[in-house]
Parts: sequence; structure tokens; C-alpha cells
Amino acid sequence: MKKKISDFIQNNTPIVCLTAYTAPMAMMADKHCDLLLVGDSVSMVLYGEYTTQKADMEMMIRHGKAVAKSAEHALIVVDMPYGSYEETPEQALQNAKWIMEETNCDAVKLEGGSEQANTIQILTGNNIPVMAHIGLTPQSVATPDGYRVQGRDNEAAKQLIKDMKAVERAGAFCVVIEAVPEPLAAALTSQANIPTIGIGASAVCDGQILVTEDMLGLSLGKPPKFVKQYAMFADNIENAIQTYAKDVKNRTFPAPENTYKASNNSKKDKAA
Ligand code: KIV
Repeated sequence: MKKKISDFIQNNTPIVCLTAYTAPMAMMADKHCDLLLVGDSVSMVLYGEYTTQKADMEMMIRHGKAVAKSAEHALIVVDMPYGSYEETPEQALQNAKWIMEETNCDAVKLEGGSEQANTIQILTGNNIPVMAHIGLTPQSVATPDGYRVQGRDNEAAKQLIKDMKAVERAGAFCVVIEAVPEPLAAALTSQANIPTIGIGASAVCDGQILVTEDMLGLSLGKPPKFVKQYAMFADNIENAIQTYAKDVKNRTFPAPENTYKASNNSKKDKAA
């Protein structure tokens, strides 16, 4: 059964979320996840950029379409890219409508707390469901060493609670909380009336999200501490490519079973 926004409530069953940028990944993750996020992390993971600031509307729509048409079960959320919603609520509304119409996704996500509450309210008031994102907001980080745990001092922690309350009042249906210490994640989750989805925010949140390529060992470089790598596919892929290169060089690939033989009815020969 296709997930609906109304299914996203706080209860004792943790909400399973992952990112997806491509049709095959969406198909594999769909039946195991409640929500798939077409994150602007696509710009780093698939395009080799150093920051999510490099994602743009065209990139998000292209990947959003591929994912939305490939998933039948999970709720599909597409990130609003840097520069597409911060100027005015009207700009945000126009771009959110564009994303929803072009991709056929179920909701958009945008980064920011109290300062984005007005924009979130306008989107939700126009029937565009919004997933909020507070704590570490990668679109504000311009260099790879700018990724830091948030809310460590009292002031910052209080501000994050205000931010969570502001996005909730504005109508967000759930909120991503990124890179905060466990006690603060616990305070945010117990005070929230919408589900909290943690990434680097401990097991106390109502759900979890990771970048799929990070948990599969497909991202190059060392992943953040909060990532558990469930597989190390990058090593397997490189080994397979190395073997292919060797086979081509010593002519053991293509083998006879990969080769079309001469035949009288070649027109009927199927390529597959
Ligand atoms: O872009 C992204 O992948 C995200 C996450 C919450 C993982 O925003």
C-alpha cells in the first residue's frame, strides 16, 4: 500500500527512510522504506561536487522523476535545492509547485527552522506537504570541513527547540534532525508532535535516514561517524572492473558464450 502523509505520525514503530536518486536504487529500496528522499546530496554523491549548494532545480527534477516513477510504496520527497526558496515565499511556492508537477513526488523538503517558518506555512497552505530539516543544514556549509555537530551549548540547543516548534506550527509533516547530541535529540523528539527523522541524531528519533550510497559503502572517502556501512560495494565494483580489464587485455572476454555465431536465419537472432 502506498504511504500517505497521514501515515507519518509519532508512534512506537520507527520510520525507515533512505535517499534515492536513480530508478534502480528506488526500486530496490521502495518495499523496505516508508520514505525515499531525493536529496540534494545527489550533487555530491553522483556528480562529485564538494557541497550540496551545487544542486539545482533541473538536477532535482531529473532525479525526482526517475525515483517517483520507480517506487510504488514509499512516500517520495524531493529536496528544494539551494537558491530555490530562500529569497521570498513566492519564489519557494513557484519552485515547489514546479517540483511537485514535474516529478509527481508527494512532498518537498527544505532546510531551516524559524527563519523558514513563514515559507513552510505558505507551501502547506497551498497543499504542498513539507518535510523540514534542522540542526546541521548542509546547504549552509560551503566547505567539506564545515560539517559540525549542532546544539552543543545551551543557547544553540534552545534555538533548535524553537526551530522545531516553528516548523511544526507552520505545518511541516515531519522534521529531519541532523547531527545533534543524543540528549538534545531526545528533548526535540519528546517535545515534537510530528515525527523526528534523525541522521546523526541517535536512536531516540522517531525514524532514521541515511544517504544510501554511504551505508552501502559506495561513496568514496571516509563516511561520517553516524553512518553504519552495511556493505562495502565500492571494493567489489573496483575488483570486478579490474578483472574485466584483465580479461579484455588477454582476450578471455568475450568468451564463446558471449559471442553470436554465424547462422542462416540471422534476422531472427535476438540481441538479448
Ligand atoms: O540531501 C540529503 O541527502 C539529505 C539527508 C537528510 C540525508 O538532506
